[in-house]
Amino acid sequence: MRLFFAVRVSDAITKDIGRALKAFPLRNPPWRWIPPENLHITLKFLGDVDERALPDLREIAADAAKRVKPFRVVYGPFGGFPHLSRPRVIFFEAKEGTRELATIAGALESGAEALGIPREGRPFTAHLTLARIKEPLSRDVLAALGSVPPLPATACQDVDRFSLMESRLAREGATYNEIAGFPLIADV
Ligand code: 2AM
Repeated sequence: MRLFFAVRVSDAITKDIGRALKAFPLRNPPWRWIPPENLHITLKFLGDVDERALPDLREIAADAAKRVKPFRVVYGPFGGFPHLSRPRVIFFEAKEGTRELATIAGALESGAEALGIPREGRPFTAHLTLARIKEPLSRDVLAALGSVPPLPATACQDVDRFSLMESRLAREGATYNEIAGFPLIADV
């Protein structure tokens, strides 16, 4: 099973992003947008995992869920990995709630490592991937990317759980299914 932990995006944020993409400063960008139902903040990508590891994964998730109380995520800047001047991924970044997201991600990272799943090489950045870009971009497209405004300050979501997701890859794109949800239950 191809698995990852994620925070799913609220319907209101999906709508905010839909509006932002409608107003995007490019009519026919040379990439496909991630479908709205697939938007999420990845907390930890696990990759291909044996089904027998599920009980252990539930255990590390339950432990991570005890570290953080429900919190608010506010989304903001538009950005690109590794850089907006030569992006492979474009995204909106979280600007509030990042400490809580990083705490959960860090706990999942350590727990997964103890199960033999490799640590993520890159530092954690809480983001919503909008598209993956497979080719170098023209100057005009890069200039347009440089002018994308942040999401409005109203783009926020209350987060009270995270999810273990399964990804099924197909030629038309990935389909994601929630396998389990973990309510945030820290009491301090
Ligand atoms: P993302 O958060 O930048 O979009 C499910 O595939 C999620 O896990 C994706 O959203 C993706 O990144 C994240 N991910 C991290 N490493 C990955 C990898 N090696 N292959 C596929 N997805 C990966």
